[in-house]
Amino acid sequence: MDTLAPDAPQMKPWIAAMHAYVPGKARIDGRPVVARLASNENPFGPSPQAIAAMQAALADGHRYPDPASTGLREALAALHGLDPARIVAGTGSDELIHLAASAFAGPGDEVIHVRHGFAVYELAARRVGADVVVAPDRDYVADVDALLALVTPRTRVVYLANPNNPTGTIIPASEVRRLHAALPGHVLFVLDCAYAEFAEGDYEDGLALADRYPNVFAIRTFSKIYGLAAQRIGWGYAAAPVIAALHRVRAPFNVPTTGQAAAVAAVADQLYIERVRAHTLQWRRWLQDEIETLNRRHNAGIRVLPPAANFLLLECAETGPFTAAALNEGLLAAGIITRYLAVQAMPRCLRISIGTEAETRAAASALADILAAG
Ligand SMILES: Cc1ncc(COP(=O)(O)O)c(C=O)c1O
Repeated sequence: MDTLAPDAPQMKPWIAAMHAYVPGKARIDGRPVVARLASNENPFGPSPQAIAAMQAALADGHRYPDPASTGLREALAALHGLDPARIVAGTGSDELIHLAASAFAGPGDEVIHVRHGFAVYELAARRVGADVVVAPDRDYVADVDALLALVTPRTRVVYLANPNNPTGTIIPASEVRRLHAALPGHVLFVLDCAYAEFAEGDYEDGLALADRYPNVFAIRTFSKIYGLAAQRIGWGYAAAPVIAALHRVRAPFNVPTTGQAAAVAAVADQLYIERVRAHTLQWRRWLQDEIETLNRRHNAGIRVLPPAANFLLLECAETGPFTAAALNEGLLAAGIITRYLAVQAMPRCLRISIGTEAETRAAASALADILAAG
């Protein structure tokens, strides 16, 4: 019951129009979990060096963290060749997404994102009372021309995740640059590269764009390949005036001491990141092949979208025995948690994160059983 009595404090109308973010499941009622493949996490956990750094940092648990995340910004600057003063850390990249809208948009302004973009963009825009403008996609892929056609003098922020979640699709570097080049200077281009480390080939991670242009905010996270989702660490790079604006609205102690220490150690262990990347790409390919083979065998109506991150998106039949809802139920019954995307207006879609070899094989074998049972 969340209706407020007339004499109770009233939400702002734009907050009343929001829906809280619905996270992926972490458990299944009454059944042991075989594989948690719902939130695109690193199934191996953090680098052992990051775990040791967190353990060492626990003794400082009574002190506030470094409000400036100094060591972390310096480590990232050294890794990527950036100016540490132009890096901002956040409580996950979620906070940075919110900060961009808070500092640069408000009532009467417009914020654009692509249909099936990351769900937090809409929340960030609505939270500050801005109008949300949704650009049509092209078969789950961002359509730069459709997005540009919606830019108006009221546009303040454009959010683009590349690779995108939940679709897993990507646009090439040239398209990202074309989008940026055509945006008016007053628009902040938030390029969310949460899955950058999984991208292959011609890829624009936004750091060079943010280095050069005053209206680009390139953001990254430690929650995916670095395996530190629980520590809530994101970071972004932009021109100094953008960073100064974000500092005004961020929480002062936004990244915990354990998270800062873990991230510094994780950055130093790039070998671990390489191994996770190689595993993910290998087993992503394997799972895609398995599902496509099963689909042909059973004529199940499943399409696997071309993947660019650490998960697959399945578009399933609209009716019949193999809808996304049915596959989700069958997988849950087998102890496999994936992300059924009905809550994100994609009732035909199921997202499966790449797990360990055992988890990925378990997902494939559960799908094989479900399809065989018809
Ligand atoms: C595209 C994208 N951006 C940002 C985030 C937020 O991640 P975090 O707040 O854990 O850094 C996610 C998480 O799933 C994501 O998929």
